[in-house]
Amino acid sequence: MIGIFDSGLGGLTAYKELHALLPAGDFVYFGDTGRVPYGSRSREILTRYARQDIRFLLRQGADVILAACGTVSSVVLDDIKSDFSIPLFGVVDASVNAALAATKNEKIGVIGTGATISSGAFAKKIAAANPHAAVTSIACPLFVPLVENGYIGRGCTVTREVAADYLAPLRDEGIDTLILGCTHFPIIADIIGDLLPGVTLVNSGAAAAAEVAAVCGKTSGSGSASFFVSDSPVNFDTVARVFLGGETIRAQKVDIEAY
Ligand code: DGL
Repeated sequence: MIGIFDSGLGGLTAYKELHALLPAGDFVYFGDTGRVPYGSRSREILTRYARQDIRFLLRQGADVILAACGTVSSVVLDDIKSDFSIPLFGVVDASVNAALAATKNEKIGVIGTGATISSGAFAKKIAAANPHAAVTSIACPLFVPLVENGYIGRGCTVTREVAADYLAPLRDEGIDTLILGCTHFPIIADIIGDLLPGVTLVNSGAAAAAEVAAVCGKTSGSGSASFFVSDSPVNFDTVARVFLGGETIRAQKVDIEAY
């Protein structure tokens, strides 16, 4: 069983891709909607949250886990990986590899939460792999609450306005590739793409999903998927349904502090 977690809806970008790649796989998803956003939290708090999220998924029977959260992947994953005996993936390595494969002018942008950008995780891995690459990193903290509240879709003028402000420096730098380093951001990729024409967008959730699918190989399960959240499921179910193209989601609420 493949476990996926995020602070909320963002990890669905990985679930959507993984489900398409492994339709017979069994999935358990946890969105920490009671404690979102993660991107403004300290390392100590994020470490506690990530451990609880992983312990919950293990209890559900997960034997592979994807931290489908740029913040957890950037800030704490390397420190806690060895505490667990199952394969534990994040989104940084796969996204960096995809960006390096895509760029032609070696000018790469990275957008993520405040914690992700402060950690420098993406920029450091790009520099280690290609010292000639120029990286421009920008924190976009308002994107997560906008997505969680359903401010998605091309016609959403509020999100477009915020995005135009955040992304202007990336246009000026002439980047040709942009890592959406927070898994919530692919949900508004249409708006981001409109503002950066010609720029290749790297969906961190999808990049990580491809890596996990390759490692899992052909999974033959029963094709089940269960979803859990740490606050009322109503909003999660509604936005998830829009994002997943009409798939009905009925998330169950869990007390994550008990794990
Ligand atoms: N999807 C999470 C990430 O990739 C969002 C973090 C947050 O809740 O701020 O970073």
